[in-house]
Amino acid sequence: MKIGVLTGGGDCPGLNAVIRAVVKTAIQQYKMEVLGIIDGYYGLVNNEIKELALEDVSGIMPRGGTILGTSNVVNPFNYYTIVNGKKVYSDISDIVIKNIKANGIDVMVVIGGDGTLEIAHKFFKKGVPVVGIPKTIDNDLSATDVTFGFDTAILTATEAIDKIHTTAESHHRVMIVEVMGRNAGWIALHSGIAGGAHIILIPEIPFNYDEILKKIYERKGKGKHFSIIVVAEGAKPKGGDVVVKRFVADTTEPIRLGGIGNKVADEIEKITGFETRVTTLGHIQRGGSPSPFDRILATRFGAEAVQLVAKGDFGKMVSLRTPEIIAVPLGEAIGRQKKVATDSSYIRTAKMIGISFGDQ
Ligand code: F6P
Repeated sequence: MKIGVLTGGGDCPGLNAVIRAVVKTAIQQYKMEVLGIIDGYYGLVNNEIKELALEDVSGIMPRGGTILGTSNVVNPFNYYTIVNGKKVYSDISDIVIKNIKANGIDVMVVIGGDGTLEIAHKFFKKGVPVVGIPKTIDNDLSATDVTFGFDTAILTATEAIDKIHTTAESHHRVMIVEVMGRNAGWIALHSGIAGGAHIILIPEIPFNYDEILKKIYERKGKGKHFSIIVVAEGAKPKGGDVVVKRFVADTTEPIRLGGIGNKVADEIEKITGFETRVTTLGHIQRGGSPSPFDRILATRFGAEAVQLVAKGDFGKMVSLRTPEIIAVPLGEAIGRQKKVATDSSYIRTAKMIGISFGDQ
């Protein structure tokens, strides 16, 4: 049996650990062959595919990124070419299926977020045997308890918040750290609690500027002349909207968020006169060596995915239902975002220790 493996969408720590587990399990346990697809669906469209041997995955576990490369702008069901200076869209999924067959690939193992897995599901419905593996630093896929990449992202963000504390305290400033996460507040919530933030702003709880100021003044009143605010890129004020940084055409989610940290800072400085600074963490949250948790989860996902392949259990996605790895139908797994529940114990705990969400 021959497996094709691809990584699609944004990179995230742990992708190489999954590729390694897929290759090792397939070759060592089942004597299968593995072909690596270059740059996500781009490689399937353009037939850029290479064999992956055990040597190719040796030593890649601690490396961030993906040795296969990735793309988030290639969708074979809505593929664009430039004709007479204009973008023309067409469905070239049959070319992809032809390439899959020409390379002797029996099953595709697709590692990606919502967009990549949605495309995988469409191929499955067209008769391509597929097994999905979920990834994203945002942790916003509802079909799994956690995605790999998230733990490393919150570690990176927490370390940054720890460092920001130094300047905040020394200069008596309000320091704002803007983190990623799209429309979910998981990264902000977890890194904010772990990093000892005083105010956490997340998309699920629209905030009120007065409440933010109240918290800052309350701290001042207690002799604490600095405050740390962690804001998710998707946070928005009550009755207001998210801040959009750019549109990236031809991606499954074209809106890129960013800039809410500066808005909040401007407002605080304008009203209070307190010196306020913003640090936007950006893509460093997606980079670097995966944490042990992410390495282990990625390895379990990779090994379990190959077992689904061996059983012929296609159209499924591996998922963590603590403590087990289970298989869920791809169709049910995609398109359902996991948001922070406003009545969750995380929020309760944070409020108990005095963290403000700018919401009262
Ligand atoms: O989904 C992962 C993520 O890093 C989000 O947190 C962020 O909003 C987005 O991707 C950034 O995308 P890009 O790399 O295209 O700027």
